[in-house]
Order: sequence, then structure tokens, then C-alpha cells
Amino acid sequence: MSQSSNQQWQARREAAVVQGVGTLLPAFIERASNAELWDVEGKRYIDFASGIAVLNTGHNHPKVIAAVRDQLEKFSHTCFQVTPYPGYIELAERLNALVPGPTPKRTLFLSTGAEAVENAIKIARAHTGRPGVIAFKGGFHGRTMMGMALTGKVVPYKVGFGPFPGEVYHLPFPADYLGVSEESTLTALEALFAADIEPARVAAIIIEPVQGEGGFYPAAPSFLQALRRVCDQHGILLVCDEIQTGFCRTGKTFATEYSGIEPDIMTLAKSLAGGFPLSAVVGKSDIMNAAKPGGLGGTYAGSPIACAAALAVLDVIEEEQLNQKAQAQGELIKRHLHRIAERFDCIGQIRGPGAMVAMELVKNGDAGQPDPDLTKRLVAEAGKRGLILLSCGVRANVIRFLAPLTAPVALLEEGLAILEKSLEAALA
Ligand SMILES: Cc1ncc(COP(=O)(O)O)c(C=O)c1O
Repeated sequence: MSQSSNQQWQARREAAVVQGVGTLLPAFIERASNAELWDVEGKRYIDFASGIAVLNTGHNHPKVIAAVRDQLEKFSHTCFQVTPYPGYIELAERLNALVPGPTPKRTLFLSTGAEAVENAIKIARAHTGRPGVIAFKGGFHGRTMMGMALTGKVVPYKVGFGPFPGEVYHLPFPADYLGVSEESTLTALEALFAADIEPARVAAIIIEPVQGEGGFYPAAPSFLQALRRVCDQHGILLVCDEIQTGFCRTGKTFATEYSGIEPDIMTLAKSLAGGFPLSAVVGKSDIMNAAKPGGLGGTYAGSPIACAAALAVLDVIEEEQLNQKAQAQGELIKRHLHRIAERFDCIGQIRGPGAMVAMELVKNGDAGQPDPDLTKRLVAEAGKRGLILLSCGVRANVIRFLAPLTAPVALLEEGLAILEKSLEAALA
């Protein structure tokens, strides 16, 4: 055993760190580059997780690292609320231009996705003067109190942590594969307005354009358009949570673009800053300005280092055409998965826009029989063979693909070959 083995670190982790933070794979990482990681024992892993959708530009992208180094030489923190700095403004201007729709936008920076969601709701309430928020079953919006209230999955996110903030309601998320149609969700919304809260008391509807943790179920463009109409009819704000979908994962800079709608507010985080903690709330100017000075912010919110990283990420997105790369990566992954699916009837569906690909694992090809045990075994077998795979889904039976969009084709193919071998082993 080497001086620092994974086993030794695991023992120390178990003694020193709370069990409430789960860990997928006890591989303690020493270094990483683009779509590869190496652990303390020198074992190499292909990364199909990107630290949960954070590294669309890959680990340690040279441009991102150079921008961060440059910023570090200058200063690392002032707190924007004390003495501001140009990077925050430049990044806000670029996001205001990128987020879809013609209405002038403004931006607020924070550090985590959950914080962005919290602040989106604060702003929506301040603007509308209304309390209610509608979210979706299976949705995930973070681990803070409002994040948990909005999240539509009890185990493991909410169990034991209540009570949660009130006036939050959940609708079924329309996913054909789960037998939930768009029409039935719109009917449920009408029923909610009739039974639980009148539309005039609803501040916002928050939706992930493709559910992330919930199972990579895309909302149809027609559904987002219908929500837009309902919101306009009742003066409700539409909040698109693009924390997992944003920055080219779906083959568009934002997944909302597939529907052509303009959201009132968008929440962003994860791949925004290529591995540095940064989140943003971007929205229509008059809405975003509803909160009075001092009501928003945070000590580390919009850290100059993270802003520098994000500015470099936006350059990389353009220079390396990451939307096109996402489309190509998604096609490659789907092609391989369809071939693998011819060998095994456990793959119930392969779906997802761009490189936000998911594979549903079921028994006997039956959508009604999810196979969470097989999913768990597959993730473990892949880990043993040096492939980091993530699962998700309300039924815990979905494998999601989140490789860096900068991953070379040969590496993706190597990873997919490991996936096939791992599936054989998991089924044996
Ligand atoms: C759609 C969505 N919203 C919010 C969050 C919360 O982000 P964070 O973990 O940075 O607080 C996540 C994280 O997975 C997410 O996928």
C-alpha cells in the first residue's frame, strides 16, 4: 500500500467527514486534465461526470487557468458590495447579451446554484408582491431551505430537514416515458389554481428546461411555450433554472432556446465558471431591479477569481464552438448506445438534446419496470474500470452522460467501450 492509498483516505474521510455528504466513488483525486482524472494511487479515470456538469470546458482549461492566474496576481477578494471591480461588470454585460430574448437584462452574481435559486425567488416576490411559487415533481433546485422546498424529491434531499418555506406547490413534470403528458400537467395547473392558490397570488413558476437530477427528461418546447402563455395571462414570472443545462450542454448556449421563449429570470451556475464557484441570476431589468439596495449580495458573491474564469469560459465557448461540439458528442454517444441497446433489453430509452444524453435502465425493455439495482451495479463496475459515470432519476434508474464538451473523440470512444464492458459485468 502506498503512503497515501484510496483506502487510507477513505478511512480518514469516514472518521473526519459527515456521512450526509455522499460520495460516488472512493477515488481520491490528485490531478485532472480535460476529460481525465488521476487518483492518489496513479489510477486514471475517464470523466463522464464533469463534477456534475461543471466542466463543459474540461478540467483545467489552459485559458481558464491563465485568466485565474492573472487575476490572482492582481487581487483575490474585495467584496463587490465594498469596492467593486471591472470583471463583475464585464461578465454581467456578456450574460445580459447571451440570455435569450429582446428585453434588456440585468445580472446578480452569487456563488452556488442553490443561492441563485434562492435569490431568483426573492426577486420574483419583491417584483410581484406575491408569495406563491410553483415547481415540478422530480425537479432539483438545491439544498438550502427554499432549494429543498422547491425540489420535488423527498429521499435523500428533504427527508428529516423540514419544515420548509411555505407557499410552494408542485406539478407533475411532463415526461412521455413516465406516462405524464403535457396536457395532463396543464390540467393539473388549472386544478392547482382552483384548489390550492389563485393565480393572482403566484409570484413564479420555476422549471428546468431539461430536468437534471430528476432524470434528464426534456420539457417539450410546446410545454415551455404553454407555460409562457399562462404566466403572461396571470402576471406570473417564468424562471428557467439552467444551472445544469446551461453553457452548451444541450447544443444551445441555454436549453430554453429550443422553445424560443424569453424567460423572465434565468438561474445559472456550474459550467459558467469552468470549476470555480460562481452562480448568476439574469433577468429582465425591471424585474431584477425590484429588490432594494442591500437586499441582495453576499460576501463572496461574484468573486473576482470566478468572474475571471467565467469570462475565459465564454471566450472558449465561442472559440472552440462548444455548441457544435455538444451536438457531435451527443450524436456519437447516442450512436454507441443504440448499438449497445441492440445487445441488451435493459436499455429502455436513449434521449436528450445535444450532449445531455440519458439512458434509462429497465427490466425486459419495459418502461414500467425501472432497474435501480442494475444502475447502481453499472456505476460501480464502470468505476472499477476507470470510467466515472453518474446516475440520476426519480426512479434512480437513469445513467446520465456529462463528459466535458472538449473531450476528444478517441477518449469518448474509450469511455463508451468501458461502459459496454461494465454493463456486461453488471448483468452477469
Ligand atoms: C437544476 C439545478 N438547480 C440547482 C442546483 C443546485 O446547485 P448547487 O449544488 O451549486 O447549489 C443544481 C445542482 O445540481 C441543479 O442541477
